[in-house]
Amino acid sequence: MSNTKKYDTAVVVAVQSTDNAKSRLSSGLSPFHRRNLVLSMLEDLLIAVREVHNGPLVIVTESSEYAEIGERFGADIIFDDGKGFKEAAETAILHISNNDLSDSIIILPGDLPQAQSSDLNTILEILSSPESNVLALSASEDGGTTALGIKPYATFSPQFGPDSASKHRVEANRNAMRIIELSLNSFKIDVDTIDDLMLIENTVGRQTRKALSTLTFENSISARRSFRGIIGPPLEKSDIEELVSLAMTAPAPHHTTPWRFVVIDSKNRLDLAENMGLKWRKDLQEDGTTNDVIQKALENSKQRIMTAPTLLLGCLVADGLNTYADTARAEAEWGLAQHSFGAALENLLLAAHTRDYGAYWISAPLYAQEAVRDSLDLDDAWQPQAFVAIGRKTLDYKPFERPPPDISNNLIWR
Ligand SMILES: Cc1cc2nc3c(=O)[nH]c(=O)nc-3n(C[C@H](O)[C@H](O)[C@H](O)COP(=O)(O)O)c2cc1C
Repeated sequence: MSNTKKYDTAVVVAVQSTDNAKSRLSSGLSPFHRRNLVLSMLEDLLIAVREVHNGPLVIVTESSEYAEIGERFGADIIFDDGKGFKEAAETAILHISNNDLSDSIIILPGDLPQAQSSDLNTILEILSSPESNVLALSASEDGGTTALGIKPYATFSPQFGPDSASKHRVEANRNAMRIIELSLNSFKIDVDTIDDLMLIENTVGRQTRKALSTLTFENSISARRSFRGIIGPPLEKSDIEELVSLAMTAPAPHHTTPWRFVVIDSKNRLDLAENMGLKWRKDLQEDGTTNDVIQKALENSKQRIMTAPTLLLGCLVADGLNTYADTARAEAEWGLAQHSFGAALENLLLAAHTRDYGAYWISAPLYAQEAVRDSLDLDDAWQPQAFVAIGRKTLDYKPFERPPPDISNNLIWR
C-alpha cells in the first residue's frame, strides 16, 4: 500500500451559501425554510460522514454561515468564490494537496439528504484499497455526479454539472485510472425541487425530516380555512377528546385552565337553537331589522346548529384569575381569559384541519349566554363563548378565498 499520508482519504463537501444553494429548491420557499433545509441536508450528510470517517473533512463554500456546523463536525472551512462545484472541488483539491492531508479524496455536494454511512463507506474502502489509480463514480440518473472518489487527485480535473459523469470517465481515462461505477441507493437522488424532497421525505436524514415537518406544519397553519360545508357522521368520542386535549395545551394566564367544553347531543339542539333564536330576535328587533331579514338569519343559524355533525360549545370560567376592585383591571383580566380561549380554539381548529375535517367557529353563544346555559343546564360559572361545528368535508364546498397576508399594514418596526 502506497499510503504515505496520515490519512488515506479526505472528504470534501461543496456547498454554496444558503441564498444561492439550490435555487430551484428555493422557489416558493421563504428565506427561513431555504436556509433551514440547506443546513439540515448538510447536517444529515455530515452525520453520515462522521459515522464512518474520522479523518480530514473539508467544507468548501463562499459563505461564512457554515462556521458553526463546521466546528461541530470538526470540518475545515475553505472559502472559494461561490462560482460552482467545479471551482469548489478545485479549491479543495489544492488545499488538500498543499497541506498534504491525504492520498485520496471524496467530493460530495451538500444536498444528499438520504446519504447513508454504509454507502459512503463503500467509497472509503475502494480508496483505502491497495489499488493506486482509481476513480469511484456515483452518477445520477440525469448524467450528473453525486459522489466522486479520486485517487490520486493531484492532476484530476473535476467537472460537475450536466453530463459531468461522462466527462469524469474521460478524465479518469486521461489519468489512467480504473473507473468503478457505483450504484449507491442513498446517493442516487439529487434533490432539485421541494417536491423531489417531499417525495423522499421518509428516507431522508433526521434533520432534513425535521426541516420538512416544520415547513408542513406552517403550511397547515396557512392552509386552514373556515370550512362550512360539512357532513356526518359525528366524530368519534376519542377524536373529540383528543381535539379538546390539544385545545387545552394553549397558553393561559397564570397557568389556569379556564376552558370548558360541551359536546352537544342532537336531541338538545332544537331547544337550544330556539332559545338562542328568541334572544337574537329580540336584539335584532331592537336594532330595527325587518322581520324578513330576522327570519332568514334565525333560520340560517338554526340550520347550522341542527346539522353540524359534531357541535362543540366552548365556555370560559374565571377559576384562578386575579380579582380586582377596579373595573379596568377586572376587564383586562377577563380579557386574558378570552385571549386564551381564542388560542385554545385555534389549536382545535388547526388540529381538525390537519385531520382533514371541516370545522368553523360560530360566535352566537357569546350573544346569548343565558339561553345557552339554560338550554344545556350548565353551571352559572360557565360563560358560553362559541360553538365549533366539525364534520367531514363535502367535496363541493369551496372556502372563502383568502389572499396571502400583506403585512405592510399590520407590522411596524420601532
Ligand atoms: C371570534 C370569531 C368569531 C367567528 N364567528 C363566526 C360565526 O359566527 N360564523 C361563521 O361562519 N364564522 C365565524 N368565524 C370565522 C370567520 O368568519 C373566519 O375565520 C374569517 O372569515 C376568516 O376566514 P378563514 O377562517 O377561512 O381563514 C369567526 C371567527 C372568529 C375568530
